[in-house]
Amino acid sequence: MQYCGKDMKEYPVLLKRPRIILNMAQALNGYISGEGGARVQISSQEDMDRVMKLRDEVDAIMIGGNTMRLDNPYLRSDKCRYRIVITSKGKIPDNANLLGNGNRLIVINEDKEENDGNISYISAGRPMDLRIAMNRLYEKGIRSILLEGGKTTAESFLKLGMVDVMYLFVGYMIMEGKGIHLFDHNKRIKDIIEDAVLMNGGVLLRLNPIKLGESL
Ligand SMILES: NC(=O)c1ccc[n+]([C@@H]2O[C@H](COP(=O)([O-])OP(=O)(O)OC[C@H]3O[C@@H](n4cnc5c(N)ncnc54)[C@H](OP(=O)(O)O)[C@@H]3O)[C@@H](O)[C@H]2O)c1
Repeated sequence: MQYCGKDMKEYPVLLKRPRIILNMAQALNGYISGEGGARVQISSQEDMDRVMKLRDEVDAIMIGGNTMRLDNPYLRSDKCRYRIVITSKGKIPDNANLLGNGNRLIVINEDKEENDGNISYISAGRPMDLRIAMNRLYEKGIRSILLEGGKTTAESFLKLGMVDVMYLFVGYMIMEGKGIHLFDHNKRIKDIIEDAVLMNGGVLLRLNPIKLGESL
């Protein structure tokens, strides 16, 4: 992968990027969605209030393409300036709720590099290099991002060591075993939990994102 005429391998970790907070919710048995990726409400009201506060504190809220297509979330926040979606072909459905409220949307995609009204496309190359994409966001003035999933996107950022803080809300519910599981391998990870807080309807864990990423 070339960047500014140099091979990325020459400086893979030196690129400046926004601070990234990853926030996910899972059932007690590890599922983050129902059958076929159907959205299931796992967070309690208290947890949703916490997430709303986080959204108000960041410059951008980011999701992956499947979450956009399956959940079609609004990602509401009056204070957050940008919504970001990662989707290789850069296709945004006309009915995407992300576009509501006059939100400015950034689409990280393979090839397209243009501005179209409230939508800006950022090319991350083919295959997409999320390190370059994050550096481009930094250059645009975006200094903090709340990453709200789903699984593929969360794991991509964790594996690249690009998550600074990770919250996992474990809701007091058991889901039918037909949905998407967050992490599915057999590794023990020492000192993975940095903090745990009991909340209404579940427990909020703060996990060490570097240790988690190394284990994936
Ligand atoms: N419980 C929770 O906290 C929570 C939060 C969010 C979502 N969810 C659930 O998660 C499910 C979706 O998760 P998912 O894993 O299927 O999808 P996802 O992470 O939402 O989106 C994956 C898509 O994002 C793009 N993408 C992300 N990282 C990429 C990379 N490194 N390289 C290339 N493309 C990349 C691709 O889009 P294209 O395919 O468009 O190229 C990829 O197919 C939904 O069922 C949703 O309900 C749960």
